[in-house]
Amino acid sequence: MTRLAVFISGRGSNLQALIDARARGELAGEIGVVVSSRTGAPGLERAQEAGLRHRVVDAADYASREDFDAELDNVANQAGCGLICLAGFMRILTPGFADAWRNRLVNIHPALLPAFPGTACHRRVLESGVMITGCTVHFVRPALDAGPIIAQAAVPVLPGDDERSLADRVLVAEHRLYPMALNLVLQGRVRVIGERVVVDAPVRPGDMLVNPAP
Ligand code: GRF
Repeated sequence: MTRLAVFISGRGSNLQALIDARARGELAGEIGVVVSSRTGAPGLERAQEAGLRHRVVDAADYASREDFDAELDNVANQAGCGLICLAGFMRILTPGFADAWRNRLVNIHPALLPAFPGTACHRRVLESGVMITGCTVHFVRPALDAGPIIAQAAVPVLPGDDERSLADRVLVAEHRLYPMALNLVLQGRVRVIGERVVVDAPVRPGDMLVNPAP
């Protein structure tokens, strides 16, 4: 069974969603190690409570980004992990790391990439006036928030939304999407062909999300 390394920097609510999905039998992999880039990140307590191996790897303790990334690589390898999931990990990884873990390194971003990459995306979403935003799970490439898209969920922007209310609504979608997308990867149903993902899953057109509702 594939082991996951989950990299966090803060609250760890997406980590919790993965822990919960695993407990429900909805994640075809086990969490081998949780790595935090910050001492005292609340997500570490979630790891502790779930009985997961966890480590702090603080960039301040390393002379270079390469040394920092080498330690991340060590920790993931020593725990026998075959897939790394970034879940609110606030450090930019070196191109060498992204290449070494190519198609085995996954991120979740709280917007519909390639629109609104980077930080403070909810503020920029609100400023832009788009009526639908969402979240994206993607394989990581060296450029920021770039890489083949595995899955996306759409979330309406509502009148009166501020950054907080929008972030909260998108987060609910993240917690559903991340385990689902990772499960597809873990089940071997995701192939990267020419920097696009082909998913071996039934096509379910579903309803369109219209906002504002007609
Ligand atoms: C999430 O919105 C995630 O998409 C972004 O950072 C946030 C992390 O939240 N990359 P949490 O630490 O998982 O609660």
